[in-house]
Amino acid sequence: MSKYIIRGGKPLHGSVSISGAKNAAVAIIPAAVITDGICRVENVPDIADVAVYFNILRRLGAEVRDAGGGAFEINSAGVASPVATSGDMQKLRASYYLIGALLARFGRADVAMPGGCNFGAPRQIDLHIKGLSAMGASISVKNGVITATTEDRLHGAYVFLDAPSVGATINIMLAASTASGTTVIENAAREPHVVDLATFLSLMGAEIYGAGTNTIRIHGKDRLHGGAHSIITDQLEAGSFMAAAAATGGRVEINNVIPKHLECISGKLCEMGVSIHETGDSSVVVEGPGRLRCVDVTAAPYPGFPTDMQPQAAVLLCLADGTSAVTDNIFDTRFKYIDELAKMGASIKAAGRTVIIKGVPALTGAPLKAGDLRAGAALVIAGLCARGTTEIEGVRYIERGYENMLGKLRSLGADVTSSDAPARETAAV
Ligand code: EPU
Repeated sequence: MSKYIIRGGKPLHGSVSISGAKNAAVAIIPAAVITDGICRVENVPDIADVAVYFNILRRLGAEVRDAGGGAFEINSAGVASPVATSGDMQKLRASYYLIGALLARFGRADVAMPGGCNFGAPRQIDLHIKGLSAMGASISVKNGVITATTEDRLHGAYVFLDAPSVGATINIMLAASTASGTTVIENAAREPHVVDLATFLSLMGAEIYGAGTNTIRIHGKDRLHGGAHSIITDQLEAGSFMAAAAATGGRVEINNVIPKHLECISGKLCEMGVSIHETGDSSVVVEGPGRLRCVDVTAAPYPGFPTDMQPQAAVLLCLADGTSAVTDNIFDTRFKYIDELAKMGASIKAAGRTVIIKGVPALTGAPLKAGDLRAGAALVIAGLCARGTTEIEGVRYIERGYENMLGKLRSLGADVTSSDAPARETAAV
């Protein structure tokens, strides 16, 4: 089993380039199934979730061609059936976007229930079902397969989401792109990857208004065509490197970012005493202070502080003066890192959906286990600033969503190796 081995205590210095956004990629790749035209997708991150998604598309009959430099061409002309039940479907959460995409193409979808990171409580799909049902889909779940059927074609509908779910917003947008009439999603998610999918669907001929606000209108088209698109850069990978620079007291230029998408993260880091400056249209420089200040953090839907950054923020607050509270209002049990940080000497405990953290002078290296993707990233950051050696198991979670994390960290001066490939992976950032 692969492990990361981190000899901590070295401030990160230098520059790093951020890859394409995971959560945009896993929405855009299934969108290419809606058309029999060719889609070219650029800035695709080289991560496990994308590789799994490409395999799922190939099993469906699509051709996926690596065009080099992070670009891929997807030709879904050969997709002849709406049945996506291969074992890979359970390897990631976003496989459920094939419900919306296959409904849009065939008026039917038979899709295996999704997998993905487990935060300790069931991750519901009732809002997806509510939206698709309002558009005329009949949905049933049997033997682990979700079947969605329509008499003829989906129709537009008014859908109010009880929570601004990213997944439900994306699934409904995909399905509505070829429905008859207009679909309105009220209380829609506003995350950058929702907007990126809307951009891609528009390039494919869809008519979508309001993505990025809480009301999205989709005027359905008879069919979509192929299109070319470059995926936005990953707000959460950038945020993770910002947190790593700050936690280690280093200075890192983070390139290939969209600074606007980072404001929800930068604001909190600045409150902690971190210095952050935009140095152009697509770069920020992050410099950690001698000692961080305690702050309270509440994860909320965009443009709030991202739930995908609360574990990394918690690590910073373990090393801050005073007591902080980290609350997650999106996933109330997303705290798989607490016991691991406690092994490193952190003073940290859960109180309902809040984590209470009293800053300590230093963390110490320990054997750890990553429980999910962002908890794994948080443990890497903890290992980078700890005294001594940290070994992290469960790195498959981290590799689901971070491209070449070890290579990038090494290029910033970190002493990190993988038990699989100790010295071989050189930085390719
Ligand atoms: N929810 C429901 N019913 C639903 C859908 C969601 O009650 O039908 C609830 C969830 O239980 C949660 C809240 O709504 O309490 C928000 O869930 P959302 O649907 O927004 O999350 P998601 O689509 O399952 C995506 C990202 C996550 C990220 C969340 C929140 C992808 C593939 N996943 O998940 O990313 O944490 O939005 O921003 O886009 C990650 O990158 O590590 C990750 C887990």
